[in-house]
Amino acid sequence: MRVLVTGATGFVGSELVPALREAGHDVVAMTRDASTYAPPDGVDVIEGDLLEPESLSLPDGIDAAYYLVHSLETGDSFADRDRRAAENFVEAADAADVDRTIYLGGLGEAGDELSEHLKSRQEVEAVLDSGDVDLTTLRAAIIVGDGSASFRMVRQLVDRLPVMIAPRWLHTECQPIAIDDVVAYLVGVLERPETAGNTYEIGGPEILTYRDMLEKTAAILGKRRYIIPVPVLTPRLSSYWVEFVTDVPKAISRPLILGLKNPVVVTDASIEEIITLDKTSFEDAVRRAFASESGE
Ligand SMILES: NC(=O)c1ccc[n+]([C@@H]2O[C@H](COP(=O)([O-])OP(=O)(O)OC[C@H]3O[C@@H](n4cnc5c(N)ncnc54)[C@H](OP(=O)(O)O)[C@@H]3O)[C@@H](O)[C@H]2O)c1
Repeated sequence: MRVLVTGATGFVGSELVPALREAGHDVVAMTRDASTYAPPDGVDVIEGDLLEPESLSLPDGIDAAYYLVHSLETGDSFADRDRRAAENFVEAADAADVDRTIYLGGLGEAGDELSEHLKSRQEVEAVLDSGDVDLTTLRAAIIVGDGSASFRMVRQLVDRLPVMIAPRWLHTECQPIAIDDVVAYLVGVLERPETAGNTYEIGGPEILTYRDMLEKTAAILGKRRYIIPVPVLTPRLSSYWVEFVTDVPKAISRPLILGLKNPVVVTDASIEEIITLDKTSFEDAVRRAFASESGE
């Protein structure tokens, strides 16, 4: 199949593009600046900025387009930018007669309690679904891999803080998933046409609290960490010390931390009836992320 990957240069896109090539697909990768992107052999590259509709010209003959774009790094206006980017993509995809769109969004129950970031991911899903093109959405919680901003926060907190004050959100449940498994699901739904038009939740084999994740990551790093409970610490206050301790830019860490109050676990595992995976444990995913980070 001929496949367009938007967000090809990002954490997920840069793993998906070679996997699609390996699976035998023709890949067209989109970036705002082709001079900064070294694609794998055989991948065509197009430039396009989804916030500049006049810069968008999708090639004909695209069987499916992956939507892996977000603009958290731009700060407070990210929700507005992500909505506009998705609207422009829908128009361009409709005009180019794209057959399917596959979107990787976020887990989390819809409702007033949902953080701005997770609400925005769901808004993008609704916008992408408003066009003529069939949408498949995969919703995921934190993705564990080298290059994931959310996992980088976990890793650096563990690495740099011998004693951690434990806010309430450390008890929130989450279902992290390995990047390899996310890529396997993304490629898998492309090859299963019956998934067009449907939304699926994807997660790893374990439901963990953020505290579990910090403790397991510390154990893998061979570090002893002390966690002291402080029930009144809010996500907003936590975001200040995460900014202080990690090198994840404030614009990215703050919306992610504010989302930690929301449980993000799979409530509908119907994807498992369609795509069978031997899912990667959290500990194996962390070890692979560390190995990739150190170039092994
Ligand atoms: N990372 C996680 O833990 C996680 C968890 C759950 C779901 N997801 C979802 O997975 C998807 C991909 O996330 P990621 O972590 O891979 O993101 P990322 O590393 O931040 O990459 C974002 C991508 O968006 C592209 N982009 C940004 N603004 C653009 C614009 N105006 N026009 C065109 N492209 C633009 C960037 O491409 P250029 O800079 O090359 O233009 C970049 O490749 C998102 O939908 C995210 O919500 C991620």
